[in-house]
Amino acid sequence: MSKYHEYPLSYPANLKLKVMDLDRSVKFYTEVLGLTVIEAGKEYLLSADLKNPLIILERPINPIAKPPHTTGLYHYAIKLPSRLDLGKFINHVKDKDVEIVGGANHGVSEAFYFEDNEGNGIEIYADTDEKNWFVDGKLRMVTDPLDYRGLMSLADGDIWNKIPEDTVLGHMHLHVDNLEKNAKFYELLGFEKTLELPNSAYFYSQGRYHHHIGFNVWNGRGIPAPPENAIGLDYYTIKVSTEEKLSDLENKLKANDYLVEKKPEGIFTKDPAGNKVLLII
Ligand SMILES: [Fe+2]
Repeated sequence: MSKYHEYPLSYPANLKLKVMDLDRSVKFYTEVLGLTVIEAGKEYLLSADLKNPLIILERPINPIAKPPHTTGLYHYAIKLPSRLDLGKFINHVKDKDVEIVGGANHGVSEAFYFEDNEGNGIEIYADTDEKNWFVDGKLRMVTDPLDYRGLMSLADGDIWNKIPEDTVLGHMHLHVDNLEKNAKFYELLGFEKTLELPNSAYFYSQGRYHHHIGFNVWNGRGIPAPPENAIGLDYYTIKVSTEEKLSDLENKLKANDYLVEKKPEGIFTKDPAGNKVLLII
């Protein structure tokens, strides 16, 4: 397990996608990512550890394509336990019918980008040694070429059967309408800014992780949220450390006029860009 994705931090734990073609999506997530269906009903729950869902899929009523220039998912990022696992995955996916976007060495991580069968952005990555992430207190994130040859030869002969069970949802990266407004929301949830690309993108974390949440204005400023029945991100879940912490967040959200909707599974809220967040303990 990643120490940046466990108690006492708050961190993204899973996400739900609204899909057009449930059968094709389940096939993609089981065959390409190697997740396992642990519950199949109206919602399909897909898991790495056979206990906790990582991805939840559902076909909404009358689904429509996500309109361009709206907020929502830029990508979600799956963190693998090791560099070897990343090499195995790249070897596995290269011959599949998958839309590959590219790869990068970010200094803090090595990352490979692709899309699912309905165009949702996915990053799959492995962290580098954390002792090199911050230099003089500043996060050092870069975009250098990914060492495909090194990764693929490291994993040569290894087969990707299933996603490793200690895989986690490493971070979420969202399209927003306004950086400052959304910064206030994520700061209220207890995240701290680790990196700012002025007028472009902000990165936030807890416990000095490089980032648990990123958001950008690359889809445009002042853009609306997509309609409720548009495919794409429905919500993502943030796991909060304790009952007290959750009720403290509930009070703070209410006091600041953010949406608070209590449901059996937890508290639903929305960031100012309309990205839905489920808070659970
Ligand atoms: Fe990312």
